[in-house]
Amino acid sequence: MKNNYSHYMNCVRKVTDDVYWVGGNDRRLNLFENIFPIPRGVSYNSYIILDEKTCVVDSVDWSIARDYMENVIETLNGRNLDYLIVNHMEPDHCSAIEMMVQRYPDCVIVSTEQGFEIMRQFRYRIDEDKIIVVKEGDTLSIGKHNLFFVEAPMVHWPEVMMTYDTTNGVLFSADAFGSFGAIDGALFNDEVNFDRDWLDDARRYYCNIVGKYGPHVQDVLKKAGTIDIKYICPLHGLVWRNNFGYILDKYNRWSSYVPEDNGVIIVYSSMYGNTEHAAQVAATMLHERGVHNVRVYDVSCTHVSTLIAETFRVSHVILGAVTYNLGIYPVMHNYLQDMKVLNVQNRTFAIMENGTWACKSGDLIEEFLSDMKTIDVMGDRVTMNSALSEGNQNDLVSMIDSIVEDLKKAEQKK
Ligand code: FEO
Repeated sequence: MKNNYSHYMNCVRKVTDDVYWVGGNDRRLNLFENIFPIPRGVSYNSYIILDEKTCVVDSVDWSIARDYMENVIETLNGRNLDYLIVNHMEPDHCSAIEMMVQRYPDCVIVSTEQGFEIMRQFRYRIDEDKIIVVKEGDTLSIGKHNLFFVEAPMVHWPEVMMTYDTTNGVLFSADAFGSFGAIDGALFNDEVNFDRDWLDDARRYYCNIVGKYGPHVQDVLKKAGTIDIKYICPLHGLVWRNNFGYILDKYNRWSSYVPEDNGVIIVYSSMYGNTEHAAQVAATMLHERGVHNVRVYDVSCTHVSTLIAETFRVSHVILGAVTYNLGIYPVMHNYLQDMKVLNVQNRTFAIMENGTWACKSGDLIEEFLSDMKTIDVMGDRVTMNSALSEGNQNDLVSMIDSIVEDLKKAEQKK
């Protein structure tokens, strides 16, 4: 391997001495996990360490396996492959295992015990004589590089581990620190405007994929705090090589369910535009009172993964909710269910309910939220019988005043 520019025919990038990114991108996939829209595509990251022994760290999804194998073969440059480390056994990262062992039959696969169990469940054909089962604290020397294995259960499946190359400070972090979004040539965090172009996708990826497992992520962050990290190499998205405080702070907030911003999202369901109108009025009143971090979402037109990410971002959520079949409007209900499953905590909700007859949605939503941890529901509820009117506009003023006051106090505490 001469230098960074020797791979004119392949999409390989050097991460640091002896370590290469050999992954790829899928821009054709509409739905990641067949659920989440990915208009910017997604990358599947895999890495090679070239030392006395050669080592691939995780592989990729079927969709890009052909290009991927070209990257591997080119980077190995005629050498054999000695080890394939499987940090995470989800098929978006290990579909190429069989292809890899067919091409390199002497290769030894390294994973956790549960990683191998899942490998067998998915019926990958591997040579059981060529496996190494590792656990927390085990090490593997491949020459001058020493690899240290760190268990990271539920980040994002139970078998997950991370591999830390103690020689050059590279943490192969599995799904942690990943993001939706294909890599447009720029691999490193300092080659992009992360805040502008990547943060929303990184947050949406984290909250929807790993959001439920905040305490497990906190455990991993504590372990990460004890090692000297110079590179973070996740399985999706960008490689981090500086500004670690920024991304660690985001992860710390997301995994402890602490809002990033003192701000408001207004999520409404509306059949004929009247609850929508109330949502618009509420947003306008907030701005008039100096609250500018406000976004309004129609629950029927916004993918729930975006609503979840936004709920993780802000401190306050106003729900504008019509009553439907004497219950909560189904799309709103789906959003609330997802929120509960993903363990959303430490947020303040306000409710604007609507119903032409038998208005029930407010009580039902309040009951739903009462099962969730450290969720406050403001006492100032707005009840509309079909539309905002002179009869309920004072309730809206009172709700907005309470939110403004709350946000002021939160800003003062900063
Ligand atoms: Fe990207 Fe949990 O797999």
